[in-house]
Amino acid sequence: MSFKTTIQPSGHSFPIEEHETILEAALKHGYTLPYSCRDGVCGTCKGKIVSGQVDYGKYQESTLSEAEKAAGMALFCCAKPQSDLVLDCREVSAVNDIPVKTMPCRVHKMERPAPDVMVLLLKLPSNERLQFLAGQYIDILLKDQKPRSFSLANAPHDDEFLELHIRNIIGGAFTHHVFEVMKERDILRFKGPLGTFFLREDTEKPIILVASGTGFAPIKAIVEHALYIGLKRPIHFYWGGRKQTDLYLLDLAKQWENKGIKFTPVLSETLPEDAWQGRTGFVHQAVLDDYSDLSGHEAYVCGAPVVVEAAHRDFTTQRKLPNEAFFSDAFTFAPKN
Ligand code: FES
Repeated sequence: MSFKTTIQPSGHSFPIEEHETILEAALKHGYTLPYSCRDGVCGTCKGKIVSGQVDYGKYQESTLSEAEKAAGMALFCCAKPQSDLVLDCREVSAVNDIPVKTMPCRVHKMERPAPDVMVLLLKLPSNERLQFLAGQYIDILLKDQKPRSFSLANAPHDDEFLELHIRNIIGGAFTHHVFEVMKERDILRFKGPLGTFFLREDTEKPIILVASGTGFAPIKAIVEHALYIGLKRPIHFYWGGRKQTDLYLLDLAKQWENKGIKFTPVLSETLPEDAWQGRTGFVHQAVLDDYSDLSGHEAYVCGAPVVVEAAHRDFTTQRKLPNEAFFSDAFTFAPKN
């Protein structure tokens, strides 16, 4: 059975199934409410039920008192609807609305989809979740080393683990640690979420996504978020690398094509053994070749600084992309020793 939920003061409304929590349904429909643990412990998601009935769900009693319940408060990560609802709560609309935390995490899994790429899955302490916007990054804090910035590759709704994609950079002290020393169950510390590279949802403009190498990570988060909320805007994703193994999750990107995401892989140095049938050259050039006018688009570009800089220069000067419609990460993937 499905009900209608309306958020005040924004007036946003969305359907909610009786088995869904208010928070789950809001996130699914693209409305970001504040949350942290998603487990009835921290109280971050507490808000007011202005009208309607809910099943309050399972939560830690100290987090929601009887007096608060009597005053109409509920924990939106636990409460499920029993009727149409009107809620009074703040929506998260900008990075400033999300607290930056420093937290420990455990290395849950290490996978190498290509010889020089490591995918790390990080597990947070129980009762902790990280709220972030699709495309943001975290800083890994290691003793005696500068913080290392890595984009989150998972979408916010899929937050059991934080996923990082790390390229092995010759001479990079941190990547040496990841590829040679780190093992599953190691404990790390990080700070985040950080950055303003995230999907803007207050426009209907078609979207161009451009990644080079492991710049794929935040693009993956953005695409998975867009698919999850059923975003209707056209999306065209270009993924560039030198050789085919640089496109280390090619099958995943190809699967998105069945869900309406246009995908163009581009290689700049094809090897005979790749038997590459696709596009060749620089990835940002492929966009220039396909689009004569980007004045009505948004572009999200992530990867090697040279790719980001060339895309910004040529999209804005040659294809009339407005400067404010170009988004890129604040950090680079160059070694920082
Ligand atoms: Fe922590 Fe709901 S998000 S109590």
